[in-house]
Amino acid sequence: GLKKKEVNVLCLGLDNSGKTTIINQLKPSNLRLYGPLSDDWKHVSQTQTQDIVPTIGFNIEKFKSSSLSFTVFDMSGQSRYRNLWEHYYKQTFFTCSLVFLLPPDICSRRMPVLLFANKSDLREAMSSVKVSQLLCLENIKDKPWHICASNAVKGEGLQEGVDWLQDHIR
Ligand code: GTP
Ligand code: MG
Repeated sequence: GLKKKEVNVLCLGLDNSGKTTIINQLKPSNLRLYGPLSDDWKHVSQTQTQDIVPTIGFNIEKFKSSSLSFTVFDMSGQSRYRNLWEHYYKQTFFTCSLVFLLPPDICSRRMPVLLFANKSDLREAMSSVKVSQLLCLENIKDKPWHICASNAVKGEGLQEGVDWLQDHIR
């Protein structure tokens, strides 16, 4: 079949916000559905895991949508590792980013930015509209952005986000 376009994604956000859970949900549950791997990616875990632990440093993960093949740098949100965000942002080419908060200068490039207002199932969760108002997202004029409410544990709201990313990557 046609080779899918490769996309690099930087995934940022506070610790415990659900980044790894979101990415895990986007991975196939069964490797046979995934197809052959190039040798470069043999060391990267390809399928969903049952036990998600706080990320140390970062993990590299892969998942696919109908037309794209995503490579995600799933960064730790713990403060002691946050200096890595800027490092990877500067050193690596990213096509887009998934963010869970907006670090002011980390999002300075013209790449699509997808935000998940995750844990929308919690009683105290704010609506995605409220979150976008608090973050003043309407002031972002130089790049496409989108915010989705999500529940990563149930996998709700994730496909909407991936569909949006797919539509905004050229
Ligand atoms: P770091 O790797 O430390 O930066 O954290 P993270 O952002 O990767 O968070 P992680 O995916 O490890 O999730 C942290 C906890 O939140 C886990 O216990 C998840 O099960 C839980 N969690 C993730 N998403 C949701 C959600 O949408 N709703 C609820 N209720 N819990 C969630
Ligand atoms: Mg994590």
